[in-house]
Amino acid sequence: MPRLLESHIAVVTGSGSGIGRAIALGYAREGARLVLLDINEKAAAEAAREIGDAGGKAESFALDVTRREDCVAVAKQVADKVGPVSILVNNAGIARRNGMTGAAEAVIKDWEDVIAINLTGVFNVTHAFLATLRAARGRIVNIGSIQSFVHVRTPSSPAYTAAKHGVLGFTRALAAELGKDGVRVNAIGPGFIETPLNAAARANNPELAKTFVAHTPLGRAGTAEDIVGPAIFLASDLSSFVTGSIVMADGGYRTI
Ligand SMILES: NC(=O)c1ccc[n+]([C@@H]2O[C@H](COP(=O)([O-])OP(=O)(O)OC[C@H]3O[C@@H](n4cnc5c(N)ncnc54)[C@H](O)[C@@H]3O)[C@@H](O)[C@H]2O)c1
Repeated sequence: MPRLLESHIAVVTGSGSGIGRAIALGYAREGARLVLLDINEKAAAEAAREIGDAGGKAESFALDVTRREDCVAVAKQVADKVGPVSILVNNAGIARRNGMTGAAEAVIKDWEDVIAINLTGVFNVTHAFLATLRAARGRIVNIGSIQSFVHVRTPSSPAYTAAKHGVLGFTRALAAELGKDGVRVNAIGPGFIETPLNAAARANNPELAKTFVAHTPLGRAGTAEDIVGPAIFLASDLSSFVTGSIVMADGGYRTI
């Protein structure tokens, strides 16, 4: 059986860890050549090595998605060294769990960091790869959240909810604009997924996971692997008439 992403070159941001790493490995299993981008150069290189060891093709590059000029430079390096990109997964992200009422300095720093990485970072990388994605009639997959729709009862920052709402808005706007070019733009809304992103929060506050799971019809936390199927679906021809959508992979969190 032909693999679903054969002959594609796929860029995944934040692919040194968690969901991004799982998506990169999953895309490689489906035949894509991977470009792994992460601020953590070593982690991205390790993931690329793992793909190579399994018989896949992968290159890694260091990138801080908040640095717009660096995004443009990496897009050029990728074009020169790897080839034309046809899939972009905007996954890099951070979480902060402080509300608005803490010390002003901390609240402002959370806002600036989260918006810069989780929202402006998505814009920066998309803009840098836009010409090649249009030429390839490519696919963009943005990682949203249940917080693309709602805030949560567990500790989280307004910045994170605002950024993830923004990611969904950006997804819809881009889908509307790029549809005529054959570029499809969709999002995935993961629920509570056990990754290094929330490892400290889970360790320090065991009630956090319990609160999420109690609100989740499937009755468990997710794994990074739970996001891989939706990510393959949205990048492949299986979703040829799907654009501007968000696929929730949240165990049903938003149904109750
Ligand atoms: N884990 C969850 O429960 C959950 C739920 C919903 C959405 N998400 C989203 O999924 C995405 C991935 O999260 P994860 O849980 O896999 O986290 P993670 O911490 O395991 O991985 C995030 C990766 O992004 C990289 N990164 C951070 N800042 C960066 C920057 N400025 N430039 C480039 N790379 C950067 C990190 O080095 C890391 O490798 C994020 O956008 C997150 O908001 C996660």
